[in-house]
Amino acid sequence: MLRSAFLWLSERNDVFEFIKRNNMARHVASRFVAGETLESAIEVGRSLNARGLSVSLDLLGESVANAEATRGARDEVVRTVEGVAAAKLDGNVSVKLTQLGLDISFDLCAENMCSVLVCAREVGVFVRMDMESSEHTESTLRLFHEVQPEFGDSTGVVIQSYLRRSKADVDQLVTDGARVRLCKGAYAEPAEVAFQKRGEVNASFGTLMRALLERGNFPGIATHDEELIDETIAYTGKQNIPADRFEFQMLYGVRRDLQDSLHGRGYNMRVYVPFGTRWYPYLMRRLAERPSNVAFMARSLVKESLGAR
Ligand code: FDA
Repeated sequence: MLRSAFLWLSERNDVFEFIKRNNMARHVASRFVAGETLESAIEVGRSLNARGLSVSLDLLGESVANAEATRGARDEVVRTVEGVAAAKLDGNVSVKLTQLGLDISFDLCAENMCSVLVCAREVGVFVRMDMESSEHTESTLRLFHEVQPEFGDSTGVVIQSYLRRSKADVDQLVTDGARVRLCKGAYAEPAEVAFQKRGEVNASFGTLMRALLERGNFPGIATHDEELIDETIAYTGKQNIPADRFEFQMLYGVRRDLQDSLHGRGYNMRVYVPFGTRWYPYLMRRLAERPSNVAFMARSLVKESLGAR
């Protein structure tokens, strides 16, 4: 129930107007978001690199609704790519295609994404296309398949284990030698397209993880779920898959202890570092994942609203 409520709220930008004025909400957001500027994200990237962790910087923003604004977003993503290169971060960049116009026109989005990829290739920075809700899965994969022959290993995509279609998508991506991040999936999806039970989502994650580790191209295993992490480690041990053939990935502000301990055990660990002013939908999805985050946020909001009277 709570998860659905927060995922519904993530699409209500009018609520953001209330939330963003609330200091405690901003405080909660700062746990998951590395500040509102590129400079703050680079600072966070440097400190994570100093702990031996790689990063992926993500300029927050999605569902951009007019062509002009998508070009502005493209320029900001290019600036992020250049910033990662100039700061010599051990890092790459993640991007959501609806930020670059996927809701408006496939061609516009492809044009924007190609501009980003050309710059990224020039400066040697990898760019991953995040995966959004299921209405965008087909077009995101189509765009990825169109650009991958030209940009090869400098780009990658994301597969969500909760989607029923993902097994077939992984088979195709593995055949193409594509770079894939595997995660569970963060959106509210109907039962026709997505598994609803945690056990089914995890079983699917296990199947896809094994396929990617065995035949994939440097997969990113993106989860904080210790059972799945243990399963990954056990599988690589059994199959003699060396630790330099894949990486674990986690979100900024989530399970820092586990990030450090996996790195300490010799595994590659990449932290996804979101930044920017448009943090609201991202924060709502993080709250949806964990009831204790919600309770903390709700208490803070009530406290501050009462205090303000
Ligand atoms: P699960 O939700 O079962 O959590 C396991 C444990 O992790 C929890 O018990 C808790 O300890 C901890 N945890 C998880 N989330 C937490 C939170 N918000 N706050 C505090 N603790 C938390 N999704 C998507 O649809 N498209 C995408 O492109 C991406 N990209 C992406 C990149 C990276 C690097 C990561 C790690 C995740 C994503 N995701 C994503 C999000 C992903 O789909 C999923 O929603 C979250 O990772 C939570 O799922 P877990 O696998 O961590 O398991």
